[in-house]
Amino acid sequence: MPNTLRSVSIVGTGSYLPKKVLTNADLVRMVDTTDEWITSRTGIRERRIAATDECTSDLGAEAVRRALENADVPSSKVDLILCATITPDMHFPCTAALIQHKIGAPHIACFDIEAACSGFIYGIEIGRQFIMSRTCNTVVVVAAEKLSSIVDWKDRNTCVLFGDGAGAAVLQHSSASHGIMASSLGGDGAHGELLCVPGGGARLPASVATVNSGQHYLKMMGKEIYKHAMKSMQQAVTEALQRAGMKIDDITCIIPHQANMRIIEGLAERLEVPMERFYVNLHRYGNMSAASAAVALDESAREGRFKRGDIILTVAFGAGLTWGANVVKW
Ligand code: ACO
Repeated sequence: MPNTLRSVSIVGTGSYLPKKVLTNADLVRMVDTTDEWITSRTGIRERRIAATDECTSDLGAEAVRRALENADVPSSKVDLILCATITPDMHFPCTAALIQHKIGAPHIACFDIEAACSGFIYGIEIGRQFIMSRTCNTVVVVAAEKLSSIVDWKDRNTCVLFGDGAGAAVLQHSSASHGIMASSLGGDGAHGELLCVPGGGARLPASVATVNSGQHYLKMMGKEIYKHAMKSMQQAVTEALQRAGMKIDDITCIIPHQANMRIIEGLAERLEVPMERFYVNLHRYGNMSAASAAVALDESAREGRFKRGDIILTVAFGAGLTWGANVVKW
């Protein structure tokens, strides 16, 4: 077997959004907020909420089915599933294994990636490494989140921001001249406390006291995260472009993490790129953590925002802190 590295392409994408829509008007009836505050500070107008009996693995499995159909690849051909999530069905087993069972894939390798909002970008690069090295032929990267299960619906600082959903991509070697060109991934655990779920883990195991004090909910220092987001996203874009030997003007479409419209506008300003080249769907779904970039990639591809041969760029940041960018020739 030749020992040379192989190119890796995204050969199909899919996404799934739960049916229930929660609008800003609905939130006004739940917490002390206004549509004007949410829209002007974030750009979000509505988000999707999974049903009580709908788990993260259900959202993820449906996104994977759609991605495999789009790629025209049967589940029997998949030989690795990577699931990016911070809302696994359970602490363990990994959600990737539950998805493997639900889609009827063979007894293949499965594991989760816990890189928060950057999880899909991390997953694309990890999957690429497995195919590039000839360890695997078909890798599914799925990002699935049921953030509604860790949001404190009484906390107006956070509950207006998040939603549920899933997106997936199928990676394979393709002899055509397109593929994932380069990535940049980073992290900084010194700021881990800025965005976390403090309770229920090994540091603060679940107890009546942790539940009563709301330690199982997502806690976020929004302003601090905002500052880090701007810096790290710009850094990830610059580094990924350098590694790919590309300039920002070569990029047809930028698919950013969908946390906040003001962050995307700030990034556009820093990169000196017109907003028309950014794909934005956060007004419909809010922040779905790892699933945001995955759903945005699928929707932008299906809407024909770029064509075969165009260069696109994904970029995200999130809890950890983590950040990353992929440069892809479509
Ligand atoms: N409705 C009305 N008022 C509100 C609401 C609300 N929903 N939420 C907060 N406020 C109030 C605050 O209480 C505060 O009032 P005060 O001045 O009387 O104390 C005021 O609005 C301003 O609050 P700030 O937090 O300063 O608002 P800011 O302009 O920073 O916007 C936001 C907050 C939207 C969270 C912003 O900081 C942000 O987007 N940060 C980035 C968050 C992010 O992107 N996270 C991504 C990672 S997610 C992941 O990894 C899972």
